[in-house]
Amino acid sequence: MALAEFIAELEELAAGAESTFALAADMPALEAARVEFLGAKNGRLKTAQKGLGSVAGADKPVAGKQFNGAKERIEAAFAAAQARLETNPAASGTPFDITLPGKRLRLGHLHPITQTIEELKEIMGRLGFTVTEGPEIEDEWHNFEALNIPLSHPARDPLENFYLATAQKLANDTGAAKTSESAPASASGGGPLLLRSQTSTVQIRVMEQTRPPIRIISLGRVYRPDDADATHYPMFHQIEGLLVDRHVTMADLKSTLRLFASSFFGRDVHIRFRPSFFPFTEPSVEVDMSWGERWIEMGGAGMVDPNVFRAVGYDPDVFSGFAFGLGVERVCARRHNVTDIREFYKNDVRFLHQFG
Ligand code: PHE
Repeated sequence: MALAEFIAELEELAAGAESTFALAADMPALEAARVEFLGAKNGRLKTAQKGLGSVAGADKPVAGKQFNGAKERIEAAFAAAQARLETNPAASGTPFDITLPGKRLRLGHLHPITQTIEELKEIMGRLGFTVTEGPEIEDEWHNFEALNIPLSHPARDPLENFYLATAQKLANDTGAAKTSESAPASASGGGPLLLRSQTSTVQIRVMEQTRPPIRIISLGRVYRPDDADATHYPMFHQIEGLLVDRHVTMADLKSTLRLFASSFFGRDVHIRFRPSFFPFTEPSVEVDMSWGERWIEMGGAGMVDPNVFRAVGYDPDVFSGFAFGLGVERVCARRHNVTDIREFYKNDVRFLHQFG
């Protein structure tokens, strides 16, 4: 065979292989093309190689070089087609069933505690209560003093609260400044700071700034150095309610809480008051709820103590009011039959997705 003829044949073969590999639409088609061009037995490249033997001896080195060039082109075209199809799963040869259901995308959702807070706001909003917020870092005036909690009260024990190591406290502890530990806190602030242990602080902040009538709720985090167990956590949420006007009575408190309970839990919930004591309410009660079996304590409530009114400059002979504070975790856990409130804070999506 003449050299020119051999070269032309190789060129045609390489070009044909390149376009065939490039057009292969899936793996089976590519495999068929591979056998056709690169097959070890009867592949077209193999056949072309036989033609090399009939080229004149002097032309053999050139012909061999040409053959190797064509072989490289064909192999490169095959490799490129293989790479193209491997990155495209639709070309794997498995037929695509368009009737199969799609993969469901998981949408995010609010945390169950946040969902509960939103619902509580909505229910109390319907009863005419507006939402107020207060700071989580508080002074002793708002957390204790104005709430009629004297220095001697056990709730003020430093071990029962998260006091902050402020610059002033650090100075006191090192004796660098005159100690103010025993001086009662005043409205002017400047004393020790702590993470609020109750949302009742917001009652004071609201009454300091507005005149009656008042009808507010406040929802937020509170902090107590309790060991975590199924019903306790060092951080939890409370919903605080405060209503101040003329001629407010305990009956108003009870009917408000009953309406609230039946809106959130449904009509079969029972509510009960047990005599109790809080420094900032008189009389004071514990609020229990029941669904026919045992009673579950949801929080505290009572009529605003006259001393609290005096602390914020209200005349207790003119105004009366009620306040309540319920645990949001307790309410949420009861609603969803969660038996351990620590679950709310593990951030395990298998638990949280149940509230989606
Ligand atoms: N602040 C009280 C507590 O944390 C609850 C409460 C609020 C009681 C309002 C009476 C009135 O236990």
